[in-house]
Amino acid sequence: MTEPRWEPSLETGDPLVDKQHRDIHELVDDIDAADDRPDELMRVLERLMDHVDCHFLTEEDLMRRSGYDPVRAADHIADHARLAEAARAAVLEFRAGDLTSMRPLAELLRDWLATHVHEQDRHLIDFVRARAISAEPPTRRSADLDA
Ligand SMILES: [Fe+2]
Ligand SMILES: [Fe+2]
Repeated sequence: MTEPRWEPSLETGDPLVDKQHRDIHELVDDIDAADDRPDELMRVLERLMDHVDCHFLTEEDLMRRSGYDPVRAADHIADHARLAEAARAAVLEFRAGDLTSMRPLAELLRDWLATHVHEQDRHLIDFVRARAISAEPPTRRSADLDA
């Protein structure tokens, strides 16, 4: 396969967010590598979904802590939700035997990530970095976030 992999142009400047993006890209690449081994593929997909959920929580936590513009935040969060829903639907179809390959999902994820990082994440990270705020692992959940 010769698809573009992680590119330096996708770096945002926040160390944790960039690490999470790289990890997600690696897991997307693993989909291609495991595509003809259904058991391994399911493990990759589960890890990928966990990483994606964790990453979205990390960014959404940043929005709350930084006082990010609510309209911009809602748009960003809606974009996360659309991607998560599309990925979940593809995994369910695969589990049900309705899909024979997850490579189309890998393609979708790569395209979505590139567009989303440039259009949404970079704006968010520029905003929080200007306020000296950086991402933290999302171990604190809604109790703290609502405070
Ligand atoms: Fe995002
Ligand atoms: Fe992101």
